[in-house]
Amino acid sequence: MPKKYRLEVVEDPDELALAAAQWIVQTIQAHLQVAEHFSLVLSGGSTPQALYRQLARFPYAAEVDWARLHIFWGDERCVPPDHPQSNYRMACQALLDHVPVPPEHIHRIRGELLPEEAAQAYAQELAQFFGERQPQFDLVLLGMGADGHTASLFPHSAALKETHKWVAENYTSSQTSWRITLTIPALNAARQVAFLVSGADKANTLQRVLEGPYQPDELPAQFIQPAVWLVDAAAASRLSL
Ligand code: 6PG
Repeated sequence: MPKKYRLEVVEDPDELALAAAQWIVQTIQAHLQVAEHFSLVLSGGSTPQALYRQLARFPYAAEVDWARLHIFWGDERCVPPDHPQSNYRMACQALLDHVPVPPEHIHRIRGELLPEEAAQAYAQELAQFFGERQPQFDLVLLGMGADGHTASLFPHSAALKETHKWVAENYTSSQTSWRITLTIPALNAARQVAFLVSGADKANTLQRVLEGPYQPDELPAQFIQPAVWLVDAAAASRLSL
């Protein structure tokens, strides 16, 4: 992959959550010195949960002006917001239920709707928030699956071909389910993108994504550049550092 990334390797998952929390708080504080709001896109899956819990705790919770944040999601499963697989539910339990983000600043993907309707509704939500401006999130958090997917951009899936829309419904054969996801143009337009990757089960894929040939249809995380990669030692174990 053309080297348009910064890599930071930390010891273990706890260190990863702490390092990510520190970096995110500094990024938010710096931006709010020159702008009224900060738009933060949250990732789903299991890896960011420890980070979200850290952000909800002292000292980080006290260092963020939560009233000036707008919260979005990179993707969602086609389930209701109270469903155990809901990325919205996970983020609420780990973070949003514990910090004073105004409810009207929480822009969730309505996974309970039909996939196409949910994607359209979210596209309208983005258009409403960004207005005439070219949508540009201030910070996007992403994870990476062992198959190289990110958000709900799965290998060889239809949404990888999307070049205009900002949101797409995407059927994933590996999960035999529909997902709603921000598209590659939407993610790459962000001011900053950070991947959080943890665990030995991701090591082979991370090596292929960062150091292997550029084959983004096979490894969709390669589409997203530039980016900061915050990873733990187990995930980085196959990189030629
Ligand atoms: C989701 C995520 C997805 C996730 C990866 C990694 O909805 O599942 O947005 O892209 O980041 O699947 O998941 P883990 O962190 O659980 O390994």
